[in-house]
Amino acid sequence: MRFLRTVLCCVLLSGLVSAQAATPTAWANDPQVESKIDALLKQMTLDEKVGQLITYSQGAPTGPGTGRSDYKDMVAQGKLGSIFNLTGANQTNEMQKIAVEKSRLHIPLLFGLDVIHGFRTEFPVPLAMSATWDPAIVEQAAHVAAKEASHAGVRWAYSPMVDIARDARWGRIVEGAGEDPYLGSAMAAAYVRGYQGAQLGGPESIASCSKHFVGYGAAEAGRDYNAAEIPVRLLRQVYLPPFQATVDAGGATFMSAFEALNEVPASANAMTLTQVLRKEWGFKGFVVSDWNSIGELIPQGVAANHAAAAAKAFLAGVDMDMESNAYGPHLADLVKSGVVPQAAVDESVRRILRVKFALGLFDHPYADGKGSNAIAPEDAELARKVAEESFVLLKNDGGLLPLNASGRTIALIGPLADDARQMLGSWGAKGEAKDVVTLRSALTKQVEAAQGHVIYAKGSDILTMSDKGFSDAVGAAKKSDIVVLALGEDAEWMTGEAGSRANLDLPGNQQQLLEALVAAGKPVVLLVFSGRPLVLNWAAQHVPAIMEVWFPGVQAGPAVTNLLLGTSSPSGRLTVSFPRAVGQEPLYYDHLNTGRPADGADLSRPPKNSGEKYLSRYIDVPNSALYPFGYGLTYSATTYSPTSVGVANLSAKDLNAGTARLTVSAEVKNTGSRAVDEVVQLYIRQTGTSIVRPVRELKGFRRVGLAPGASQKVEFTLGRDELKFWNLDMKDVVEPAQLTVWVAPDSTGGKPAQVAIGQ
Ligand code: NOJ
Repeated sequence: MRFLRTVLCCVLLSGLVSAQAATPTAWANDPQVESKIDALLKQMTLDEKVGQLITYSQGAPTGPGTGRSDYKDMVAQGKLGSIFNLTGANQTNEMQKIAVEKSRLHIPLLFGLDVIHGFRTEFPVPLAMSATWDPAIVEQAAHVAAKEASHAGVRWAYSPMVDIARDARWGRIVEGAGEDPYLGSAMAAAYVRGYQGAQLGGPESIASCSKHFVGYGAAEAGRDYNAAEIPVRLLRQVYLPPFQATVDAGGATFMSAFEALNEVPASANAMTLTQVLRKEWGFKGFVVSDWNSIGELIPQGVAANHAAAAAKAFLAGVDMDMESNAYGPHLADLVKSGVVPQAAVDESVRRILRVKFALGLFDHPYADGKGSNAIAPEDAELARKVAEESFVLLKNDGGLLPLNASGRTIALIGPLADDARQMLGSWGAKGEAKDVVTLRSALTKQVEAAQGHVIYAKGSDILTMSDKGFSDAVGAAKKSDIVVLALGEDAEWMTGEAGSRANLDLPGNQQQLLEALVAAGKPVVLLVFSGRPLVLNWAAQHVPAIMEVWFPGVQAGPAVTNLLLGTSSPSGRLTVSFPRAVGQEPLYYDHLNTGRPADGADLSRPPKNSGEKYLSRYIDVPNSALYPFGYGLTYSATTYSPTSVGVANLSAKDLNAGTARLTVSAEVKNTGSRAVDEVVQLYIRQTGTSIVRPVRELKGFRRVGLAPGASQKVEFTLGRDELKFWNLDMKDVVEPAQLTVWVAPDSTGGKPAQVAIGQ
């Protein structure tokens, strides 16, 4: 009987434990782990504790060189708890063996890497992934990255980058999910789920790192590392939510940013690192600095030396020092002199050990190297699918696309048509050019299979000003029925970290190449490979078909070819506004209305009267984006019925209490002749509020598959979470307001419906 009771009790308990394990933050609340940490902390010397609080790069550096590279002795002495940029089962295992077997307390190392959009199987760059509007597929991609990284010993990805970016000049706009906090939050959580899996301790799970906390994407004038001024309400409303979404999804670590945020460096900012992250959100993982961001407190002018910088960063809430060499030499002394409390050091060590325990590193410290020789076919297949979903068809006059290749000659021209390395994008992790299938090879194969013919001419390099290749390119165009032109940016130099640009044109001589080919008289399909919105005015006026394909990853060629030839249909939507001129930046759809809006102002002549003159506008370009947020064409056509709402009146009190919700819907119909994946979007606007609210805000989206002629009612729900905002009194509540809602194909379309939110 007693035995039975014990068994029953165990069964029930294990049920409880697994139910607990199913919650995303379960890893942070395991009493058994906490007591193991207590026991370790009791045995650790101060130097061993500091060792857990630093990380150094070994291998190819991803920041300014430091001259350090051999860490074996430090690891053996327990003075280094984490290493990054070291990958591969043999390499990581060799180091791990030193930590586990030679160090006094056998605490395993944690290996980190910038696994940003894949490990070996490179997926499209993150900005492209966001253009899928498909968090489920992003989660799958992140899981593949986690699988490959974990077998190579890497259990910590410096991803997702969840910085909201409203300025296309900023090179790192490529690493995030674009300009919108709602979509950005959905994508942020998807990455965390994908990396961390159902349990952080799973053999193919890795810890995520939400970065860069916070405000890095608001770098003034889009120049990397520049200061950011973000009023607290905007910070709460726009920049913080994607980070909070990662905490809610169980994200294990955070990285503090480089920039001075409202004059307080983000890596020494107690308001964000301690007040918001720890106290308000209850984050139990650890915060690592960015590369030398603690040392950079010195040139920023808030610390006289590394000791002072270490004290500031640590006391503000940065647990681990990446590459600053500030905590290593100085933290122990700061404790001894009473500047830093011993208890605070213990707490930071606890957070790091907690993540190491959660990852199961104490039980399984070594990597098995499985699958390291090649990309698995099913992963390549997923990479192709993600890429196809990420392409955004910007223009398609006369239904030029999809192309009928049968019996036709296609001129494939441009520096991006056959450059495997570029397809990997910035932060290619362990991606290899030899894994990439280029557009030239995929298109040639498929066109030849359709009894067509491809003539290739490079035309130009990405960056050159030479027009040496133009005549060959024009010659190829003249011999062909159609021109497919692959133009764009240099992924490594012009996008990603330190890749800010003051101009957003096609680089080098590519605009001239484009004009020469259009002048050749054959229809041109322009493919834009870029890590950011480019200014495409000329192309928008003179080129019949334009598709933004970003940097698509290892399956670039097959994915682009499938869309060009219509094996698949485009379904991606922009997550960043494409400007008409660089001078419009920062440009984003969810801006505030001015008192003098100027929609539709006539720019062809000077204003005729004072009513036309004194408006909020440029005299030389319209205010609107060339291609707005949410925009993207398909090979079919869709209509949206008027937006309908469940009720016409709601009360703010009920909404705040969580007892009222509003349903919003529209009937979406595929009126064309091809199947579509339509990205249906829900937008709101609130007026009559205590502060000015944006002209539109995204509050829901869904990918809906529609066969030709099919229609579907797409329904969304709005409640407290969607309708609240930080009001005049800095309370995060729903206010009485006039609410306008749109179910729409993009941020400018849809038919509005009205709802009154009363007291
Ligand atoms: C600096 C970058 O800002 C950050 O995103 C990256 O994770 C680290 N270097 C490590 O490579």
